[in-house]
Amino acid sequence: MRKLLLQLDSSRLPSVFDQVVAYDAGADVVMSYGGVAEADVRDLIYGCLFTRGPKDLHNTAVWIGGSNMAAGEQLLAVAVDVMFPPFRVSIMLDSNGSNTTAVAAVVKIEQTLGDLKGKKAVVLGGTGPVGQRVAGLLAKDGALVTLSSRRAEQAEKARQFVNARFNVRIDCATYADASQLAQILDGATIMLNAGAAGIQMVAKAAWTKHKTLKVAVDLNAVPPLGLEGVELNDAGVVRDGVTTFGAFGVGNFKTKLHKECIGRLFTRNDLVLDAEAIADVARELVAPKS
Ligand SMILES: NC(=O)c1ccc[n+]([C@@H]2O[C@H](COP(=O)([O-])OP(=O)(O)OC[C@H]3O[C@@H](n4cnc5c(N)ncnc54)[C@H](OP(=O)(O)O)[C@@H]3O)[C@@H](O)[C@H]2O)c1
Repeated sequence: MRKLLLQLDSSRLPSVFDQVVAYDAGADVVMSYGGVAEADVRDLIYGCLFTRGPKDLHNTAVWIGGSNMAAGEQLLAVAVDVMFPPFRVSIMLDSNGSNTTAVAAVVKIEQTLGDLKGKKAVVLGGTGPVGQRVAGLLAKDGALVTLSSRRAEQAEKARQFVNARFNVRIDCATYADASQLAQILDGATIMLNAGAAGIQMVAKAAWTKHKTLKVAVDLNAVPPLGLEGVELNDAGVVRDGVTTFGAFGVGNFKTKLHKECIGRLFTRNDLVLDAEAIADVARELVAPKS
């Protein structure tokens, strides 16, 4: 029986990137819908549920993407809500790659440091979809997370969203000019840049002087890179005593994770892969083989 992936994309044009990865991950057919709104979801999902018998439903799965994470979360909530046993199909949310990217970065940090409990982690440019996911996952690991934004009200909004979504308590800070950075990084073990593509967020001299720093991750792949001195392909390179990961150093694992998750959607019909479940898959992938 052919593996069918229903792609529900909140953006007008369904992501070609997501389609290519879906085929590479083993989907036989990707049925793509763009501009999907909450009101559209029920009937699209019903098209999956009532066309194959319950024992074959693991051959149909749903992918939710698009450039807007909040919209993706709403589509996911409706999709989960309209399914009922035994009429269920597995489903994954990865709007703009934010879940798989954030998880890949967090798992690299976990591998480097082990237990994150009580360690201060700073997520720069943390108000975007990737940064919010990173902040939530690090806080779930017990890290003391500070998320930064150029604007205080944006930072506070993101802080409240992350706390509610992940049931954690993170802090936030305003980072509008370089003079504020020293205080934000004071005592930090982890620094991760989730700022927009093509923006340098930190000069090298500004982070190398923080002797408590152990890990620096830059997710921006577009020049100028986000953390000066961290290179695109860094994947655990130690620079000035800090273990560094660049956007490709994280991105290679992100792609592997993305494909693995799609493969797993077709193994059963009741998976819901959002940030935490995707993190579990990633941790399995890096766990030592017994
Ligand atoms: N390596 C990978 O596989 C991969 C995959 C996906 C994404 N990414 C990268 O991950 C990063 C985060 O992605 P995202 O989609 O969450 O980012 P985003 O939403 O585009 O931007 C994140 C935040 O950056 C801040 N920002 C925007 N313009 C800025 C400027 N001129 N100066 C300083 N800050 C600015 C904004 O925060 P405030 O307005 O609140 O300050 C914004 O909320 C991006 O660099 C993206 O390219 C990497």
